[in-house]
Amino acid sequence: MDITQLILDDHHEQRRLFAMIEEIDRTDTAALAALWTRLSALLDVHAEAEELFFYPEVLKLGTGAGGADSAAGETKDAIHDQNEIRDTAADVARHDVGSRDWFNAVDKANKANSEHMGEEEREGLTDFRRHASLELRHDLAYGSPRTMRVISRGRPGRQGSSEVHRLEPVGSTRRSRATWQFVPEPDRQ
Ligand SMILES: [Fe+2]
Repeated sequence: MDITQLILDDHHEQRRLFAMIEEIDRTDTAALAALWTRLSALLDVHAEAEELFFYPEVLKLGTGAGGADSAAGETKDAIHDQNEIRDTAADVARHDVGSRDWFNAVDKANKANSEHMGEEEREGLTDFRRHASLELRHDLAYGSPRTMRVISRGRPGRQGSSEVHRLEPVGSTRRSRATWQFVPEPDRQ
């Protein structure tokens, strides 16, 4: 297993679910609601697992790739983007499923997510493939699916993780903005 491939697989599933929402009968609100529930949960768990397990390792090992000049820059951009995805996904829930406003909100979430995925695939994933050992890539991939299931059932305590990972929790509400705030390591400032 490889964490970079696991992330790509999740991205593919996110793209697939957005495409299914585009293709489905717009009056079939039950199907739309079911698809969005599945997709929004995947977006949420995927982002949090990356913040907990992937980006802390990128910070330790990365040097910047795909136009980013540092791992700190890659991580900061990713967390900013993931908060934007959380915001746009939360906005979807404020509208009636299948309404024009609902589809517009889904489009905004799709745009924010696709921009983020493209950047992450050029930067963080590339950086990690270049600098992380295959053993670490395997270990993170092996651990993260189990952890993601734990997250999806209920959030584990975050304080300990923040100390290790240099990512500071500033909110605990599901999909709240700035759930995590990037804290630069002193020697990288
Ligand atoms: Fe991602």
